Amino acid sequence: MSARIIDGTFIASQIRQSVSPGVAAFTARAGRPPCLGIVLVGEDPASGTYVRNKVKAGTESGLHVDLRRLSSSASLDELLAVVRELNASDRHDGILVQAPLPAALGRGAAQQVFDTIDPAKDVDGFSPVSVGRLVQGRALLAPCTPSGVIEMLDRCGITMSGARAVVIGRSEIVGKPMAMLLLQRDATVTVCHSKTPDLPGVGRDADILVAAIGRAGFVTRDFVKPGATVIDVGINRVTDASTAEGLFGASSARMADFAKRGSLVVGDVHPNVAEVAGALTPVPGGVGPLTIAMLLKNTLAAAEARAKSS
Ligand code: GUN
Repeated sequence: MSARIIDGTFIASQIRQSVSPGVAAFTARAGRPPCLGIVLVGEDPASGTYVRNKVKAGTESGLHVDLRRLSSSASLDELLAVVRELNASDRHDGILVQAPLPAALGRGAAQQVFDTIDPAKDVDGFSPVSVGRLVQGRALLAPCTPSGVIEMLDRCGITMSGARAVVIGRSEIVGKPMAMLLLQRDATVTVCHSKTPDLPGVGRDADILVAAIGRAGFVTRDFVKPGATVIDVGINRVTDASTAEGLFGASSARMADFAKRGSLVVGDVHPNVAEVAGALTPVPGGVGPLTIAMLLKNTLAAAEARAKSS
């Protein structure tokens, strides 16, 4: 069997198109476009790329994107002051602080930032109020990556109700909210992590398997029931030629790419999973574009809710 490859770029473009009329209507009504404040701290190259893509997609969709850059030497107090300024601003509808934050800000820094963001503007869905509402099944703004996965499954006609879903990874950004959203769609959900015994055996129970552990090619065909849907949330940069060759084979197109660039972006799912899965998301071009599309959708939703409540 060879898995159907789910085209995340195409699905994301459909979602982005569906957001555009709402953005135009809001702009006409409010006399200004919905506005997203993005805060980027430090010089992490991957975060820089993600933020550039978010700014570009937002601007192309008609949002006003206000990018605030702080140097890697900025203090937590300075960062929190920016968040409070955006909270107080009447012009800003959504706030996103790109994670991870520089390690120098300390271990609890990201949580303090998420605790400070006004829940009404929390387009990431990471504030305690947003998380609580999500657990209660009444989220206003749900985290972008897992809600993008739900959109993708819906648009591909993959049934969640009654399905066995296994989520590998328990992060606040993906694993935990993913489990909640699948549960709300009546899947029977298991969350696994590095201490789970027999991960491949648990994975083989899944009709829908979500890999979100941040380890390149970790999920091999042994984890997958024939015909299962496999969603790869991983974004890992591989710079070691033998690791890349172990994943893709010496004479593959991906290795030609590696030779050109000196690195590859790969998912958490091993390419050999395509031999057993029924459907599979690629990396790149799978879940990644959905995350950005859902950010645009959340920003419009936040703008509309704020306009209604004012
Ligand atoms: N870093 C990786 N994914 C995300 C995300 O969805 N939001 C934010 N703010 N940072 C991230």
